[in-house]
Amino acid sequence: TPPRILVFAGSARENSFNKRLARLAAERVEHVGGLATFIDLRDYPMPLYDGDLENREGLPANARSLQALLAEHQGLLLASPEYNGFITPLMKNTLDWMSRSDGENSGLALFADQVAAVVSASPGAFGGMRSLALLRQLLGNLGVTVLPNPLAIPRAAQAFGEAGELTDESQRERLDALCRRLVTTLAKLQATRPLDGG
Ligand code: FNR
Repeated sequence: TPPRILVFAGSARENSFNKRLARLAAERVEHVGGLATFIDLRDYPMPLYDGDLENREGLPANARSLQALLAEHQGLLLASPEYNGFITPLMKNTLDWMSRSDGENSGLALFADQVAAVVSASPGAFGGMRSLALLRQLLGNLGVTVLPNPLAIPRAAQAFGEAGELTDESQRERLDALCRRLVTTLAKLQATRPLDGG
């Protein structure tokens, strides 16, 4: 079975450059033989993490939904907007809730065998690359293996064409290469995992 990759961006807004990039990446994943599930975090609203709320009510239903989705995927492709040199609160809050345990389900265990690729887009000159270093670190703390060669798209307001495509060929090639590497890495891992029936 083709590797399944969960794709989302750390931005909720309708015209998010990072959602655009995430959608493109999902398309490229499918082009190279993976199965991509693009989700919009706007469809999974959650309160800001609060330990008292968690003790009272357990995980928000949307956090459990995302955990269930994660369990059905082997890889992650995350598009990270940069706020003040950091990942967004939406990205952090989503991953924090997803990492929590609920009854017998361990959030951390769901991340443990995942492989991720990270990308970013920003209207600025650096493409949000500072956030990528931090997202990589966060994912590493969750036990996720993060691929090298992340892709940052600078001057995002000019980088996308009418159909949402990347107009620069070298950027297209780098996105393709990253998506291909994610799919092939997961395929190789699958081949070495006897429990997956291989
Ligand atoms: C930004 N933005 C920004 N951009 C950047 O490249 N480096 C930065 O440090 C920041 N800092 C920052 C802080 C805050 C609070 C906001 C709201 C924005 C601009 C940011 O890249 C821009 O709003 C993008 O459009 C956000 O990504 P989406 O929503 O288009 O995916």
